Amino acid sequence: MTAIQSKRNLLSMKQLSNEQIYHLIHLADRLKDPANVLSYSGLFAANLFLEPSTRTKTSFHIAERKLGFDVVELDGVDSSLTKGESLYDTLKTLESIGVDLAVVRQSEVGGLSACTEELEMPLINAGDGCGEHPTQSLLDLYTIHEHFHSFRGLHICIAGDLKHSRVARSNAYALRQLGARISFVSKPDWQDPTMTKDYITMDEAVETCDVLMLLRIQHERHTNHGGTGSYLKEYGLTVEREARMMNHSIILHPAPVNRGVEIDVRLVECEKSKIFRQMTNGVTMRMAIIHALMKGEL
Ligand code: CP
Repeated sequence: MTAIQSKRNLLSMKQLSNEQIYHLIHLADRLKDPANVLSYSGLFAANLFLEPSTRTKTSFHIAERKLGFDVVELDGVDSSLTKGESLYDTLKTLESIGVDLAVVRQSEVGGLSACTEELEMPLINAGDGCGEHPTQSLLDLYTIHEHFHSFRGLHICIAGDLKHSRVARSNAYALRQLGARISFVSKPDWQDPTMTKDYITMDEAVETCDVLMLLRIQHERHTNHGGTGSYLKEYGLTVEREARMMNHSIILHPAPVNRGVEIDVRLVECEKSKIFRQMTNGVTMRMAIIHALMKGEL
């Protein structure tokens, strides 16, 4: 068994079978009813966020509290990582002190997999640079399933800064495995070597896709800081394009949103947009993920 397949860790969507994904979706549904929530009272969860986060960090905090965990919050500024302590030593320290589960966001692709071998507590990848974001992917899958009740045959278009998007990487892999047809919209500069085919224009996408998954332009990961003046018109979701989407189609975005860049300001909260529903679903899905890991079901 390789580290990435090790039970009781969630590092990548590549470790999950379709059965495990459906198990998490059904578990999240059950956990919407507080009567079904098991208590992990007396256990400690640590959230170690070494890159900025609003949604993932807060969502994990609330999910952990709803499950009865005491929560320890750590960041890159106040931890001994600033004194040169390694990620592994930091996590080993947390486990030695009594932490039972750790959620980690950090910038090195695959950086967490080197830490799994010697640790007993479950580890969750909350985003590793441009690598993967499995819990975002699972809440996206949950939101798509909530709307369509299936994945097979759906046309899902992932649009935007693919090269720097861990969300795109996790979702493209998982959605293909689940039987969806994936296409991409991107500026040539932001196409990704792992997503090499099935590029279409935004005009083609809006008329043919069931799910339009927009991505944030990740300025913080760019070396060439070009302007975004014409981006909305060329590659984004304008009001005119949204009007051409099919009646049943939905709009997703992992957020934070650059309003007026990848999507017109007026569309962020339009009827088709499930952007804030994704955030609500994130808490329930993260409860399901934690529960499944604690029970050794992943
Ligand atoms: N979608 C997402 O990961 O948002 P945060 O960076 O705010 O956690």
